[in-house]
Amino acid sequence: MMPVSMVGRAGELAELDRAWSAVAAARRSAPAVAVLTGAAGVGKSLLVAAAVDAFAPRPALVLSGAARVHGPAPYDWLAAVLTGRDTSRLGLPSDALAWLAQQPTAPRERYAPGTLLRLAVRTVQLLVGAGPAVLVVDDLHALDPASVNLVGELATVADLPALLVVASRPPADAVAPDLTRRALARLSGVRGAVRQHLGPLRPAEVAEVLTQVYAGSTPSGRLVTSLWRCTGGNPYALTELLAAHASEGPEALLRRLPGPRQPTASRAPASSADPVVDVPLDPELTAREVEVLGCLVAGMSNKQVAKALGISVRTVTVHVSNLLRKTGSVSRTEVALWAVRHRLPVPAPVD
Ligand SMILES: Nc1ncnc2c1ncn2[C@@H]1O[C@H](COP(=O)(O)OP(=O)(O)OP(=O)(O)O)[C@@H](O)[C@H]1O
Ligand SMILES: [Mg+2]
Repeated sequence: MMPVSMVGRAGELAELDRAWSAVAAARRSAPAVAVLTGAAGVGKSLLVAAAVDAFAPRPALVLSGAARVHGPAPYDWLAAVLTGRDTSRLGLPSDALAWLAQQPTAPRERYAPGTLLRLAVRTVQLLVGAGPAVLVVDDLHALDPASVNLVGELATVADLPALLVVASRPPADAVAPDLTRRALARLSGVRGAVRQHLGPLRPAEVAEVLTQVYAGSTPSGRLVTSLWRCTGGNPYALTELLAAHASEGPEALLRRLPGPRQPTASRAPASSADPVVDVPLDPELTAREVEVLGCLVAGMSNKQVAKALGISVRTVTVHVSNLLRKTGSVSRTEVALWAVRHRLPVPAPVD
């Protein structure tokens, strides 16, 4: 299936563009801040990428980093930003820069945490220079505490002509919920900060996605409604489901989906060749299975899950096969998809 281009979000795009225009025009020295939150897979990263792509005038510089779920290390965001960048002319201590960039040859940490934080801020200021720049921090919820602190500092530093765009799942889903909550509150509290909480797609937007996938043909209302219901309008769940059944037509897909809840008789009959799998809506998962599930959603291998949770690979395989059985899934991807579909509580707004 071809990648789906973004539907909806016009208001959000326009607001981000206005924030950028103000930064670009004013040549102000303090950063402007935009904070985007929303559930897993709701489309934060795609929106940020689309917005930055469309910014006019073009930013002089875009510094972008995201959490690297497989091995979070201190200042992971900055390390991602520094990857492949020439920092020799910044005039900062090269051993500290090597350490911040997580270079394998870096000397062991010799700086106090406060000094490292100041050096990290200074590094970003020097990279941005006269700007105007865009700083993108994706997945704040999954970042290491040092990076989260750094992002908070950057938002309030005096000399940084940039738009700081931060995307995060709600604090409850974060590696460190309290730290993430405080950081989001600090960022949102910056004067004039743009604050967006992304909700799921509406049925009309689900229909737009279908029109793209099925090459311009208008999708039936029943298919739109069924897909919207079964994915909760979550674009990740929607695009994964469509990709999994890309080779079949819309009619076959409709037969696979649970029909309207009422009345049961109107459900499309399942043929033996095309079974509707009845998945229990709320199978009882153990706390450990829920943790493993979280790792699968993050795309980890069994080895990585074992390392992350401090258990053996063999134990992980047992948990994974229990998860497959309990959720009625046939693959790790399907379990991850199931998790997204079933974890759609509307998160509490950040205070
Ligand atoms: N508005 C949209 N229109 C069409 N597809 C979308 C839209 N938003 C997201 N998608 C698709 O849904 C998937 C998930 O989007 P994205 O990665 O941006 O979510 P996210 O909110 O950043 O998730 P996470 O919390 O896991 O980082 C992607 O495949 C993306 O292309
Ligand atoms: Mg994302």
